Amino acid sequence: MKNRNPVMERPWFLVMSLACLVAAGLLIASFIRGGDKLQLCSLPNTKTQISNDYVPTAMQLQAILHYATSKVVPQQSVGEIKVSFNVLKNLAPCNFLVFGLGHDSFMWASFNPRGTTLFLEEDPKWVQTVLKNAPQLRAFTVNYRTHLREADRLLSSYRSESLCSPSTAVLRGNTGCRLALHNLPKEVYDKEWDLIMIDAPRGYFPEAPGRMAAIYSAAVMARNRKGSGVTHVFLHDVDRKVEKTFAEEFLCRKYLVKAVGRLWHFEIPSAANVSLSGQSGASFC
Ligand SMILES: C[S@@+](CC[C@H](N)C(=O)[O-])C[C@H]1O[C@@H](n2cnc3c(N)ncnc32)[C@H](O)[C@@H]1O
Repeated sequence: MKNRNPVMERPWFLVMSLACLVAAGLLIASFIRGGDKLQLCSLPNTKTQISNDYVPTAMQLQAILHYATSKVVPQQSVGEIKVSFNVLKNLAPCNFLVFGLGHDSFMWASFNPRGTTLFLEEDPKWVQTVLKNAPQLRAFTVNYRTHLREADRLLSSYRSESLCSPSTAVLRGNTGCRLALHNLPKEVYDKEWDLIMIDAPRGYFPEAPGRMAAIYSAAVMARNRKGSGVTHVFLHDVDRKVEKTFAEEFLCRKYLVKAVGRLWHFEIPSAANVSLSGQSGASFC
């Protein structure tokens, strides 16, 4: 009794075992043939869907984590942020230059997935503080040669300085024009910037650098564009006299396409594409 063969005693057990073996063989064969098309149930083919779908970048995932766990939010209002967000939605990946590091930096960088987003910051200590928590961001320190208290003088004197002239203006090495940011890192001059956000340097006390040089330099970059399309320039804090006056002088009312809250959006064509009829060669506008 003890040595009886259970398989021989129960033929259904043999049949079930063989059926399982055949099913397993078919399953493995379909794996080999079908690769990632294998569907084990009625769920959609998720692998194929993900590869066709949008894949978030590490920067975007970090930004979600950052803003979901932070009580500090960017200073621009939702309406203001949406102005550049809508442009980036169409242009990304692109080249995005941002004046100022702040609580909005992670957001700007993640709005430009797979593009180049570069920050220019006046305060080296603040660069260190921000990059310690967000080493993914790319930032350079900028030395400004101006102070807010000089804004009126700079505006009236630049016209008599040939090195500031719109017809010849360059930035790299231009020590003769105080409005020109002359010693930026090479990458800033070598790239053509599709969007420029000016939300720095600080311009709310007389000794602060003010945004005069950032506005002038953005205008020169935009005018010198060689590629197709316009340069989108966004300027924040246009409720302040210096921002408004310098924007009207260098970025031009006629290129202003949107105004939301304290933000102005300009679309500036390359000087090569602008007919000089009705425009003085001595004026940016
Ligand atoms: C006018 S603020 C604009 C800030 C930005 N829009 C934001 O949402 O954070 C720009 C400049 O303020 C300075 N700044 C901003 N936040 C700071 C902070 N928490 N501590 C020190 N400096 C700060 C930096 O020099 C920066 O370039």
